[in-house]
Amino acid sequence: MNILVTGARGQLGMSLAERAASLPKPVPLLLTDLEELDITDPLAVGQFFLEHRPGQVINCAAYTAVDRAETEQESAFRINALAPGILGQACQKYGARLIHLSTDYVFNGDSDRPYREDDPTDPQGVYGISKRDGERAVLDAAPESVIIRTSWLYSEYGHNFVKTMLKLGQEKDELRVVNDQFGSPTYAGDLALAILNILAEGARFPRGIFHYANQGVTTWHGLAEAAIQAAGLPCRVIPIPTSEFPTPTRRPAYSVLDTSRLHLLLRQGIPAWQDSLRHCIRQLQ
Ligand SMILES: NC(=O)c1ccc[n+]([C@@H]2O[C@H](COP(=O)([O-])OP(=O)(O)OC[C@H]3O[C@@H](n4cnc5c(N)ncnc54)[C@H](OP(=O)(O)O)[C@@H]3O)[C@@H](O)[C@H]2O)c1
Repeated sequence: MNILVTGARGQLGMSLAERAASLPKPVPLLLTDLEELDITDPLAVGQFFLEHRPGQVINCAAYTAVDRAETEQESAFRINALAPGILGQACQKYGARLIHLSTDYVFNGDSDRPYREDDPTDPQGVYGISKRDGERAVLDAAPESVIIRTSWLYSEYGHNFVKTMLKLGQEKDELRVVNDQFGSPTYAGDLALAILNILAEGARFPRGIFHYANQGVTTWHGLAEAAIQAAGLPCRVIPIPTSEFPTPTRRPAYSVLDTSRLHLLLRQGIPAWQDSLRHCIRQLQ
């Protein structure tokens, strides 16, 4: 059975390809990104399904520039909201299972306990709204789909907060990072293994929304400091309030995801964020 990965040159797509290839029994994936398959183009998606007949589809493609989305609304909605519906329709038509990725930014961040899958969504910016609409489009078109919400994703690949901190930590003596936004960092390599686990279960895996993030809670300051320390950089990380670092999109103050639903179903545990961060930094070094 063919397994299609969209957005395969992004962080999660790259991690998925790497993990799938290094399993004792490697899992072959049809890796596509914008050049091979533009998921916003219904004709191209239809043609691809007709030719390759994927049995499972992992949608790693997304518009992920959170702040830029405020001024590029059309692109954000086309890629994050419209396209997942197009993939969902194709999956429904051809009997494929869709695994779609979403985000903690569908919540408003006002909670005082980890967000559960069925908590009401209330996204605060264009990116979050477009991802929330994408979830709805997927479930409307293909109700058997699996949606995985994740948070604070980083990896060895592409652009992400951890790599940015390591780069700045080499250039500067001091970094100022917000310490009043709480969340759970997620190493894309761990999420990729969880997705491979779900793929292996096939139709036995229950449909619906699931949360995946590494275990434990920190702030952006805590994550930056741990990354700088793990890399052995002589840079001080100063905590600052969000008010000293304004961004075009309001970030949730608290976006911890309750992962217990998925934790129970996965064959492997979910690593603590500190362990996975150290692993990623060793890989980068
Ligand atoms: N990054 C995070 O912190 C974070 C946090 C929570 C949830 N998530 C979610 O996790 C998933 C994976 O995120 P990621 O960080 O791996 O994203 P990413 O690194 O930005 O990768 C997304 C990939 O999709 C491609 N793409 C864009 N438009 C496309 C189209 N029309 N057709 C096909 N491919 C297209 C991008 O190409 P270009 O680079 O050329 O645009 C890129 O290669 C996304 O659903 C994201 O919303 C991410």
